Amino acid sequence: MTTIAMLALAGKHVLQPLPFAPNGLKGLSEALITSHHENNYGGAVRNLNKLEEQLAQITKDTPPFVVGGLRQHELMFRNSATLHEAYFANLGGDGRTSGRIVEQLAASYGSFDTWETHFRLTGASLGGGSGWAILALELLTGELRTFWSSHHTQALATAFPLLVKDMYEHAYQMDYGAAATKYIDAFFANLQWDEVNRRLEQAQLLHQQLSMIR
Ligand SMILES: [Fe+2]
Repeated sequence: MTTIAMLALAGKHVLQPLPFAPNGLKGLSEALITSHHENNYGGAVRNLNKLEEQLAQITKDTPPFVVGGLRQHELMFRNSATLHEAYFANLGGDGRTSGRIVEQLAASYGSFDTWETHFRLTGASLGGGSGWAILALELLTGELRTFWSSHHTQALATAFPLLVKDMYEHAYQMDYGAAATKYIDAFFANLQWDEVNRRLEQAQLLHQQLSMIR
């Protein structure tokens, strides 16, 4: 096995701490946030590490169906970890909109409120089930786009996530039961728009660089 392959399957992913005090959110309890972070996000990171250890054991004699099962789970745990980190990092704010993202969403959707309606309803459509609602910048086109994902493994190709909303029931059931729209209200009340603007700047820079060499 080469050194590069060993690095790719090192199983050394580290749990990122919550970027805010777990008892500091409005309408999302400390018990909910702590359980979500430790069990759902933490489980994804721990499983990803175990999975990479198993992927590193693949030889030419490993049955392809075994490799396929491992690859399927790799995608699930890798995306879950990444999306959970983005989700927690875009919470912890006061929900007040600010920065360039506001004007750019208004320009893309006709008004900021129209985008917000799209984003809320995209999340609501996943109520009682599982998935993610994500505002992303498409790296090849530079367009802002809201997309729907009913599983960790569904993702818009080339999308750079700007705002991530967890719609798995574990994100709200403890506090709101099946009332997903009440959770969406709480999500918006705790948004950290400075983080969304920081990601927008990163994504647009990447898009510009890609445009210069394509
Ligand atoms: Fe989650």
